[in-house]
Amino acid sequence: MPASTTPTTTAEIRSAFLKFFEDRGCKLFPSSSLIPDDPSLLLANAGMNQFKPYYQGKKTMHEIGATSCQKCVRTNDIDIIGCDGRHASFFEMLGNFSFGGVSKEQACRWALELSTEVFGLPKDRLHFTVFTDDDETHDIWRSLGVAEDHISRLGEDDNFWAAGPTGPCGPCSEIYYDMGEDVGCGRPDCAPGCDCDRFLEYWNLVFTQFDRQEDGSMPELPHRNLDTGMGLERMSAIMQGKTSFFDSDIMQGLIKLGEEISGAAYVSDDYEGPSRSLRIIADHARSVDFMISDGILPSNEGRGYVLRRLLRRAVFHGRLLGVSGAFLTRFIDRVNELMGDAYPELVKNATLVKGIVSAEEERFSQTLDNGRVYLDEALSKLAEGETLPGSAAFMLHDTFGFPVDLTVEIAEGAGHAVDIEGFNREMEAQRERARANVKGDAWGTFNDVWTELSDTLAPTEFCGYDADELEGARVLAIVRDGERVERADAGEAVEVVLDRTPFYAEMGGQVGDTGVLSSGDFSASVSDTKAHNGIYAHVAHVEKGPLAEGDVVSATVDHHRRELLRRNHTATHLLDAALKEVLGEHVNQAGSLVTPERLRFDFTHFEAVTADELARIEELVNREIFAAKPVVTQEMGIDEAKAAGAVALFGEKYGDRVRVVSVGTEERPFSRELCGGTHARNTAEVGLFRIVSESSTGANVRRIEAVTSEGAIAFLEDRARLLAESASALKCRVDEVPARIASLQKDLHAVEQKLKAALTGGASDAMASAIQGAVDLGAYRLVVAELPGLEASDLRSAWDTVRQKIEGPVACVLASVTSKGTPALIAAGTDEAVAAGFKAGAIIKQIAPLVGGGGGGRPNMAQAGGKNAAGIADALAAARTALGA
Ligand code: SER
Repeated sequence: MPASTTPTTTAEIRSAFLKFFEDRGCKLFPSSSLIPDDPSLLLANAGMNQFKPYYQGKKTMHEIGATSCQKCVRTNDIDIIGCDGRHASFFEMLGNFSFGGVSKEQACRWALELSTEVFGLPKDRLHFTVFTDDDETHDIWRSLGVAEDHISRLGEDDNFWAAGPTGPCGPCSEIYYDMGEDVGCGRPDCAPGCDCDRFLEYWNLVFTQFDRQEDGSMPELPHRNLDTGMGLERMSAIMQGKTSFFDSDIMQGLIKLGEEISGAAYVSDDYEGPSRSLRIIADHARSVDFMISDGILPSNEGRGYVLRRLLRRAVFHGRLLGVSGAFLTRFIDRVNELMGDAYPELVKNATLVKGIVSAEEERFSQTLDNGRVYLDEALSKLAEGETLPGSAAFMLHDTFGFPVDLTVEIAEGAGHAVDIEGFNREMEAQRERARANVKGDAWGTFNDVWTELSDTLAPTEFCGYDADELEGARVLAIVRDGERVERADAGEAVEVVLDRTPFYAEMGGQVGDTGVLSSGDFSASVSDTKAHNGIYAHVAHVEKGPLAEGDVVSATVDHHRRELLRRNHTATHLLDAALKEVLGEHVNQAGSLVTPERLRFDFTHFEAVTADELARIEELVNREIFAAKPVVTQEMGIDEAKAAGAVALFGEKYGDRVRVVSVGTEERPFSRELCGGTHARNTAEVGLFRIVSESSTGANVRRIEAVTSEGAIAFLEDRARLLAESASALKCRVDEVPARIASLQKDLHAVEQKLKAALTGGASDAMASAIQGAVDLGAYRLVVAELPGLEASDLRSAWDTVRQKIEGPVACVLASVTSKGTPALIAAGTDEAVAAGFKAGAIIKQIAPLVGGGGGGRPNMAQAGGKNAAGIADALAAARTALGA
């Protein structure tokens, strides 16, 4: 065990590691978001992710290297989480990185120094692996005093690290801590790399020195880079004298909560049953908290799906532990208590995270209930002891989100096994389909023409904030059907790259500009503008040609359309601010679309926005418009912008310099957002703001669609036209429409009442003949009849009529086809009839299946519905027979 002065808690270890490297000249970087900058990488999964541009030589660093503690999510091993002491979906990776500034020898020396001197780990407990032919690293460890029998050589699988099939990669050297002979498998050949828990790998030093090519060759990179990653929770376990990741302080804080909630007891070396479930809940709850607070929302694809899956697994394991109610938000609170100091974003977004978690948990509970109905039905169709087919288990998994473990558990309870192999086959086929859709890896793959262009050309200079026309723009590239071409002729559809442009490329929800590119003999209409990694593509149709690379053209944006876009974009900011003011600070933008015709704004909120709230929101926005406030745009540093209170998009990435768009006074702006879009110069230009609709786009995300200026007028005109048409149809003045409708409704109601009375009262033919047909059963008289045109609720009135018209003990069985085309049945009897043996509930129960339904009730009154109206005659005949009529 390490000495007591050494860092022991997770927080102490984190600080000690970062300080060690900062003291040695490395620049401290905060963890990047779990949403990576790299579009082809789903989730941050290694410390090196945020340094990718440095490895690629696109960015350079003055310091000798960098250090960070990175939030990571990895779910490739999701099935084994909880089954050992080493795997988790969420973990913190401590790292140091260098792009030519730190030698291999220095990196190894530091790793050894930190391990033995700062963490106080005994050298004889440390084991080192090196890549098969990496004599250099072997010799370095030897020169640092590591014994020969503490160094082993492992092959490509273990000791060569590549973030993807091509790109920077290199041999690595891993450092293991020997947990002691009594831990682990006990086999004589147990050594680093063994699957058991004895040798715990806590640090991976990757010497990123090659650049693997498509053809497999590996030329050296310009620099000998370094990328090291230490698992923080693993180090905590070591420093706290534990053998398992899950027995370290933070994880134990979560597992204890699981014990409290479920009453289950955690056993550190039990890797099945309740202990496994407790680990899974603790781990997944952390992932869920960090993912949502970084801006990921549950969905059915991409990272949203990873989140949903983790959240559902946690809930499901809660159920396995016998927890029936919602419990996950308690874990969010506990994660925040344990980790909020290191990650303030957790505390800041707690309300939002908990709102999303509880709504999702509730939905999933519903899913579990629905899946249960499907499963019970599937099981009821099986013969005794028959196996549930894999396809049914897959269907439950895929359609109902019903975890297979749960299917197995319930099926076993009913005496059936589940064809797991069949299930796995279906899963594998699905994975194959998914794989085919996913490109990319930790490095991402950018090998299309736009990657090439963004690698070789400077980013397009956007000059369109104030102007919408520009002369003298140079054509830097022309792309046709995904290939770079030198010229374009009349009639061709191409994408044109200019050095500078006034065209806004689709970004931040604002759609791309349209307009015209032209020069002497050339002209092309631009139908859209898109950005690819800073390079703007003008999607153009060449009307007069040719156009060649190097040509100089004028670029003219469709002015009117752009003005409409400016107004709608500014209105979006006003709406965002008004939503926060009326609904609360948990409102965060979850998506937006700014088009010339309208704007659409998606935001986090847990229930429908009421009509009253919508009216207040609209009023607030219009008040800002009528106050004719200037819209001010400033460029500043990101930190300065945040300090000035600018709203940053939840989960969005920003560069060092940002644009800040403010409405209102400097000291008390109504709205202040980071935004690269084009805006009105003054709120008055927006003219008028009208909300057109409010709806839901999924759990916890609401959508508002709105119109401004000309769009708002068109909307109001349309409404006015509809109102005028309504008035004319109602033959009244516009201001009389509501009263006229109310009076028509009153008349209609009166007519309906009369009709009902006619149908159910004794005066109707059907009723009269039903009463006439009453059969005398001795103890009471019985009416069995079908009465057309009645709703289920009317059958009770019909029974009242029967009772009034027939004196003495009486009972009935009546049926009708409702206006929906479904059958309705009623059976009822007076107290005397019931005393004489009539049982309404029993009769209904017996005959309802004949109309495809079920039902029951008390002896004196029972009702049923069904699916099959054609069965009414049979049902009534069965009633007669049963009652002896
Ligand atoms: N990139 C390496 C890893 O993820 C080392 O940081 O293990």
